[in-house]
Amino acid sequence: MQVFKTRESIYNHLQDLKKQQKTIGFVPTMGALHEGHRTLLQKSYAENDITVCSIFVNPLQFNNTEDLDKYPRTIETDMAFIDSCCDILFYPDYSEIYPDTPNETFEFGNLETNLEGAFRPGHFYGVAVVVHRLFNIVNPDKAYFGLKDFQQLQIIKSLVEQKNHAIEIIPCEIIRESDGLAMSSRNKRLLDSERKLAPIIYQTLKQAADILKNKSVEESKMFVKNTFEKHKEFSLEYFEWVEPNSFEITNVQKPLTVGLIAIWLGKVRLIDNIIVTQ
Ligand code: PAJ
Repeated sequence: MQVFKTRESIYNHLQDLKKQQKTIGFVPTMGALHEGHRTLLQKSYAENDITVCSIFVNPLQFNNTEDLDKYPRTIETDMAFIDSCCDILFYPDYSEIYPDTPNETFEFGNLETNLEGAFRPGHFYGVAVVVHRLFNIVNPDKAYFGLKDFQQLQIIKSLVEQKNHAIEIIPCEIIRESDGLAMSSRNKRLLDSERKLAPIIYQTLKQAADILKNKSVEESKMFVKNTFEKHKEFSLEYFEWVEPNSFEITNVQKPLTVGLIAIWLGKVRLIDNIIVTQ
């Protein structure tokens, strides 16, 4: 795996490869890599001539400074972990991505105001700016994003349309621990006692999906609320059913809905989701 630190060096190198008709797959990350990230890279590695991974903890998308400070930085382990499924690592310093104050504009509508957008003001603007800039540097044919961050994936699809990036966005399934907990760099921060409770999140999502199919939106939401009220370690931020394309919160059953949850477990904020087709 070759490592590039500057935008100019990686841009020039990738342009040379493109001239040789090589296809490029791209997986942007913030590091602290786990099996979820590696699955994205493996998919890219199988589908493209060259796979590029970026590791950049993007301050612009953190609305909470404690979360930014505590974000794990494990570059040496990360590099060893992805060596077999990545050709090129882009590991830039802050000034490479932000030589200037960001002034990009986007129009995300409901995606920016609902759920994650409402609870993390400015978060998706930060995500959109960094991904837009990374896309301009890497110019991939395909870019891989996890369904774990469902709303982010929709933001990226909208970004690609708005800015006319000629990039195919490939959604990738959520990779979970054997007990169902969605893999996340933040899981490491859970206390042992909290980690034992964490599988309740996905169990509850699956039960809520069953209730939605057989009963109503209202009852499924009530079930989720009641379940987490039983455990003082959890504090539910939101659970909603959303129509994925419009990202409108739905109160009636639709042919396709996504149940999205954000929940605090101790001092760690976790997100997960479940897709339901009727
Ligand atoms: P990060 O949280 O490092 O995630 C990088 C990619 O890995 C995202 O597309 C995310 O959805 C995916 N991912 C994380 N956990 C996953 C899991 N358990 N299963 C499947 N995919 C998973 O998301 C970001 O970084 C940043 O916002 C970024 C897009 C890099 C912009 O800074």
